[in-house]
Amino acid sequence: MSDAKPIPVWLDTDPGVDDAMAMGLLFAIPEYDVKGVSAVAGNVALEKTFQNARNLAAFFGRRDVPVYPGASRPLARSPRTAAFVHGENGLGNMTLPESDAPVETTPAWDALCTAAQGAAGELVLIAVGPLTNVALAFEKHPSLPKLLQRLVIMGGSASGGNATPAAEANIFCDAEAADMVFRSGVPIVMCGLDMTLKTVMSPAELDKLGELNPVCKFLRDAAQHGLAYSRAHGVDGMALHDPTAVLYPLYPDLFSGREAGVVVETKDSETYGRTVTDLWSKAPFSCKNALVMLAVDRARLHGIILDLLAKYR
Ligand code: RIB
Ligand code: CA
Repeated sequence: MSDAKPIPVWLDTDPGVDDAMAMGLLFAIPEYDVKGVSAVAGNVALEKTFQNARNLAAFFGRRDVPVYPGASRPLARSPRTAAFVHGENGLGNMTLPESDAPVETTPAWDALCTAAQGAAGELVLIAVGPLTNVALAFEKHPSLPKLLQRLVIMGGSASGGNATPAAEANIFCDAEAADMVFRSGVPIVMCGLDMTLKTVMSPAELDKLGELNPVCKFLRDAAQHGLAYSRAHGVDGMALHDPTAVLYPLYPDLFSGREAGVVVETKDSETYGRTVTDLWSKAPFSCKNALVMLAVDRARLHGIILDLLAKYR
């Protein structure tokens, strides 16, 4: 453990293959004091994301970290899953041992608020799925946005989308929730597609990762299902979307971006879920509500990921 002050963190997630790698990194960083994990419906249904998050915490040797259930559906829209990328079970149809940790029943939004109050303004919330739990937490606990040190999300895009030509998947899943979060005043770091699509790990690099230890072999094997989908859509490898958000709080210099005004399209149209930014506009929005990431040092990112995941035995 370095002598740096521990960073209290909370992960909200919808595992999800890249979420699984993100969780592995979260628990491999000694500077992170993980206060809790919460599951949200997203890549697959809540029942599966909740069980996946529980099983992953135990798999990474952290069955002591409480995992809380969150929202089973978006605020307004009907649920949309991404089993075509992440497999029916959300983990590339790879199986994990069932966690024997106690099953938490406190809703994610209440547990998150309690943790934020305990961390006295220092808690860093990392959200790598739809923002439904975060929006509900802010709605039920209006003091929460000011209690967080910051919110780091994987989501959004200042250019095109992946779920649709306009919208990135996490925002597309629940644009109403994202709209509430971007209007909340919480300091946001947006790890969106402009940056995350520059992180792609090739099949050969994934194979190399898989040779390190059983944890890395699981992550490599779980990625295979999505590789076929990515290849069919012009990306030869796995974009490390969620891992970037987990690494940002400790390694901000891996990334670069700019403050921007960001608004979320919630009208029911082809552009539903688009995150509109004023990055390149001469007519800026009235406020700068997010630090939008645009670039990443891919080689250093991959090196840090391998070093961290190599710690597992
Ligand atoms: O667009 C990528 C995001 O959607 C990632 O968080 C992935 O896990 C999916 O949830
Ligand atoms: Ca995710």
